[in-house]
Amino acid sequence: MNTDDTVRTFLDFYRERGHELITGSTLLPPPSDPVLFTTSGMHPLTPYLQGRPHPQGRRLVNVQRCLRTTDLDEIGDVTHLTVFEMLGSWSLGDYDHPQSLRWGHELLRDGFGIPSEKLYVTVFGGDEQVGPDLESLRTWRELGLPLESTRDENWWSNGTVGPCGPDSEIFFWTGDGPPEGRPTTDSRWVEIWNHVHMRYERGEDGGLVPLRQVNVDTGMGLERLVSVLQGRRSVYETDLFEPWMRTVPPLWDLDEQSTRVVCDHLRSSVVVVGDGVRPSNTGRGYVLRRLVRRLLTVLRRDDPSRTVGDLPVGLVEHTLDHFRQSLGAGIVRDVLLDEERRFGRLLERGRRVLSRPRFQGALTEEDYGYLHDTHGLPREMVAGLMEDR
Ligand code: ALA
Repeated sequence: MNTDDTVRTFLDFYRERGHELITGSTLLPPPSDPVLFTTSGMHPLTPYLQGRPHPQGRRLVNVQRCLRTTDLDEIGDVTHLTVFEMLGSWSLGDYDHPQSLRWGHELLRDGFGIPSEKLYVTVFGGDEQVGPDLESLRTWRELGLPLESTRDENWWSNGTVGPCGPDSEIFFWTGDGPPEGRPTTDSRWVEIWNHVHMRYERGEDGGLVPLRQVNVDTGMGLERLVSVLQGRRSVYETDLFEPWMRTVPPLWDLDEQSTRVVCDHLRSSVVVVGDGVRPSNTGRGYVLRRLVRRLLTVLRRDDPSRTVGDLPVGLVEHTLDHFRQSLGAGIVRDVLLDEERRFGRLLERGRRVLSRPRFQGALTEEDYGYLHDTHGLPREMVAGLMEDR
């Protein structure tokens, strides 16, 4: 099953069960939202989870592009991506959580052909404020799936305040032999789907208040799902990354992890630019700038002549098409090249300034402050230049 089939199967399953497809899935939250980027499928739905009627009804489904910078250091491993897509389904005060779990199991088994033996689930075991999630426990037992309960790992929120609740996570066995161990003890169990029983609002004081309506919020990372369905060790070995992996390694001779970082950051940068962000020193623009600089640092480490200008424009087009973005590929490429030139100039200045006698020993906090404030040299870059000499 390729990526398009996977998306279609998911959407059809929920549409057949009365869910309306939400269109529009930009990475940029509305201006009133304090968060820089959409980080999960539920994020744009926050007011509707809190009780405002949604114009498309009480059962919704979509594919939402998301960006998570919290995982930036994990990029390069086999499952994390900076920009990813999330398949999501919602009940806004309509059906209950057990229904969502049953449908989830049915879709995985009948729609995606995953045998139940390869699944393990986790449920919320209760804490000082909220009791154990007995409904989910009962439902999974009836469905015959192995389960374990946890405390902190089965509570989902999109920040310190706002809608939240106990969740039930579904794990897939990725090991070679027969399944063994449990999700909390064996990393070969990979989380693929999260069903959140979104029924509380956490206030500024940390207290929990029941929401006006009891909701279900589910989210499944598309790239990760595709990699397990295609029996791949990593998201980079799926059809989704095939054009990247066909193009990048012959272009630039990088080790495996660096190839992944470059592919992830380039692809993410294309999508962020495609949604209208431009590099800058604040907010979203700064996240984009960091992404581009990180990828350039990796790219140029062994060979300073490597440039994003070598990237075929067709690959940028392919990415924009996949994310249904209308910006021209040439514009995206120009933004990246412009940022590369700026980065190159800054590096030159950094080398020049750091060659002064004052900076020959270890740098003090005061030096870092001076280099940043007077010469615009970010700490990360200075540290990198110090390592290189
Ligand atoms: N909002 C939940 C998540 O992102 C489903 O995991």
